[in-house]
Amino acid sequence: VPDPVSIPGHQATQTRSEGHALWRKRHHLLDTKSLTIGEIDLLIAEARVCKRVHAMISAPPLVLNNKVVANLFYENSTRTRSSFEMAAKKLGAHVINLDINTSSVGKGETIQDTAKALVGLGVNVIVQRHPSSGSAQSIAQHLGDSVHVINAGDGWNEHPTQALLDLFTMQEVSPKLAGKKITLVGDIKHSRVARSNIWLLQKMGLDIRLCGPPTLVPAQFAEIGCSIYDNLEEAVAGADFIMALRLQLERQEQGLIPSIGEYKKLYRLDHKRIRAASPSVRILHPGPVNKGVEITDELVEDEKYSLVSTQVTNGVAVRMALLCLLLGESSKQLLTVTR
Ligand code: CP
Repeated sequence: VPDPVSIPGHQATQTRSEGHALWRKRHHLLDTKSLTIGEIDLLIAEARVCKRVHAMISAPPLVLNNKVVANLFYENSTRTRSSFEMAAKKLGAHVINLDINTSSVGKGETIQDTAKALVGLGVNVIVQRHPSSGSAQSIAQHLGDSVHVINAGDGWNEHPTQALLDLFTMQEVSPKLAGKKITLVGDIKHSRVARSNIWLLQKMGLDIRLCGPPTLVPAQFAEIGCSIYDNLEEAVAGADFIMALRLQLERQEQGLIPSIGEYKKLYRLDHKRIRAASPSVRILHPGPVNKGVEITDELVEDEKYSLVSTQVTNGVAVRMALLCLLLGESSKQLLTVTR
């Protein structure tokens, strides 16, 4: 692992110890919008190491021994919650999965009070998913430096660890990402994954295209440099990456799309529709997939194109790296052991 930290195609921006100092100062991960390139470069470099550690047969060093990570999920999750649990346990931390349905939330306890109670119990990291935008920031402000808060998805706002694992996955197949073209297709309006990816991938120099029915692609994104399309074939022409986004049926207002059938006819990714993309195009989807709606099963399963299962696998490495960086010098020990 190089020191200073460098990603191919990027100028080295810092030494490793300067990068660690940036992360210690940050304390929480609430968004990708405020991340610096230095912080991103170090996290990706650390995730590469954590992926090797995760794959090791021998037990990794328990660098987070005695630390406690609490998963506080007010919305359903398979990948994010499980991968945070695996990441924390792999590093030796204890994990509390608070069951919101049987917690005091049912008696009207606020998110701030629930989080404060967890801090009182000795929790070091709170990983929170909540349907309200800004909720992770709200508990981070309320609790200050007494705990590290990680946003695991807040309303339509951000899902920073998803975007970081997407970046890591793309960078594994295409080390020089600056200048590459990515097309995000689907329900951009309701997607926290889209927002986190837009902020992150712009910083990394990718050319971002957004495609979907005009009712689901806010025109304001053109003002920050994204190209907007309502025609899928035009949007994927020459694309190096295409990311299909879940049609968020639970967040739809009435009338945004005429029907699921109409949506599939115009925007569902399949082998034919990606023909105009780069011959080496790779396809991503953050999951969960609405089966057969945003992308065909054949394309999800096609190993030549699909990175969907790699995204899930990489979620553990990226979250291991994040926990190490937020909790201090521990990642250094991991690096030493795996060198
Ligand atoms: N991508 C994602 O956040 O998936 P889960 O809802 O399963 O965590």
